[in-house]
Amino acid sequence: MHRTFEDLVAEGASVPTEGWDFSWFQGRATEARPSWGYATSMAARLGRASAVLDIQTGGGEVLDFALAQAPKRPLLAVATEGWPPNAAKATALLRPRGVAVVAVSEDAPLPFADGAFDLVVSRHPVRPHWDEIARVLQPSGTYFAQHVGPASVFELVEHFLGPQPDGVRGGRHPERERADAEAAGLDVVDLRAERLRMEFHDIGAVVHFLRKVVWMVPGFTVEAYEPQLRALHRRIQDEGPFVAHSTRHLFDARKPENHRL
Ligand SMILES: C[S@@+](CC[C@H](N)C(=O)[O-])C[C@H]1O[C@@H](n2cnc3c(N)ncnc32)[C@H](O)[C@@H]1O
Repeated sequence: MHRTFEDLVAEGASVPTEGWDFSWFQGRATEARPSWGYATSMAARLGRASAVLDIQTGGGEVLDFALAQAPKRPLLAVATEGWPPNAAKATALLRPRGVAVVAVSEDAPLPFADGAFDLVVSRHPVRPHWDEIARVLQPSGTYFAQHVGPASVFELVEHFLGPQPDGVRGGRHPERERADAEAAGLDVVDLRAERLRMEFHDIGAVVHFLRKVVWMVPGFTVEAYEPQLRALHRRIQDEGPFVAHSTRHLFDARKPENHRL
């Protein structure tokens, strides 16, 4: 029997959103993963690093996974996190692995000395602060990260917000980020981009997703967007899962030996 709109929406609106673990969506929504396998590649790099920083670790889940897979532990591992509920969650998860989580707002300068790390990693930072990344890397150090690309999940965003201007659709473009990374003095060794299929199987999953990924539809609440939610619910019932596409790019950048700040 079909669950009602009210029932699905109430469920999506009540599930806690802390952490950055998407297991709740099992059977309700899917997202293809990039072919490069970011967390597994990160694990291999952790095995070769001595001092590592994970910027905006979220609930710490990716770093936790990668440390568990790493052939060898780095001597020093630190993570930053700016959202208090996630700083607490990441601390609980990562402290037993010997990782300190530093609570610092995402726009603040990184609270570390110049050249403190030989590896800086980050998955889906809100925005990369290239000068700060370059500053805390030691010469020959590496920034290895997966970023969200342009117009990610915009089929869904535009269902709620209407067509977005080109300036918004083109934000987070990998080639612009390459230019910004180079302007900060980094050499971009590898930059790859992929567009990945997502499916939303019911409106409860859409509500939970928009509550969790708060910057998709800023200020999203069920009350404010009820007409769009009802229309999408009917569409999923009539036509099947709602299909969208996420965009991701992989950055592998190196601080040159002779870097000058
Ligand atoms: C997209 S998350 C990525 C987290 C982590 N690196 C990962 O990939 O699992 C980036 C940042 O957004 C923060 N964030 C998530 N939900 C938030 C919310 N509702 N309000 C403010 N910041 C939030 C996270 O805590 C994290 O610092």
